[in-house]
Amino acid sequence: MSEFFGIPVAQNDKQIGWIIQYIIKNDATLFVELGVYLGGLMNIMIFLKAALPDFDYLGIDYNKDQVDSSKRCKPEFVCLNVFTEEAVRLVSDKINSARGCAVVYCDDGDKPREVLTYAPILRPRDIIMAHDYPGEILGEFADQFNTSHPDFTELDANKRDIRGMLVWRKR
Ligand SMILES: C[S@@+](CC[C@H](N)C(=O)[O-])C[C@H]1O[C@@H](n2cnc3c(N)ncnc32)[C@H](O)[C@@H]1O
Repeated sequence: MSEFFGIPVAQNDKQIGWIIQYIIKNDATLFVELGVYLGGLMNIMIFLKAALPDFDYLGIDYNKDQVDSSKRCKPEFVCLNVFTEEAVRLVSDKINSARGCAVVYCDDGDKPREVLTYAPILRPRDIIMAHDYPGEILGEFADQFNTSHPDFTELDANKRDIRGMLVWRKR
């Protein structure tokens, strides 16, 4: 856990840095956060929106009462179960209208299911990331995903442990 101007973020400082690096290095114009919690990472992304041309953010969580109350009515936050058709359609539409790379960050209660649900809607060069490795998401899952999804390349596979997250790019 860390904080952004007093708002808790369920990532450590290095993970926040890596997420921002993936956004900058890949010229991402969209970051979708699945599982917003108290809104700390969302607020970082709202700041990035002000700094990066064309950058957009969408956060989804089914528990809006947790999300920082001052921010939860912002258009960037949507209260939905990420496994509903409505949520997947919303993210898909958002991705398809992004001019640059889209990054989907899987950080709710069932990360493997999120990766499997959202990977199919990515376009070539888009990125999907999953937090909490090796915990809620394991090496066995990554290895199986790599075998069953030859259209995805795992990025920085040798850094799974130090980053605590898994990252793939669609070819
Ligand atoms: C680990 S927290 C997210 C942390 C946040 N990304 C951050 O960096 O601070 C997980 C969040 O996922 C939400 N969540 C769990 N299952 C969900 C689902 N099926 N649909 C939407 N939100 C879900 C929970 O309400 C919780 O806020």
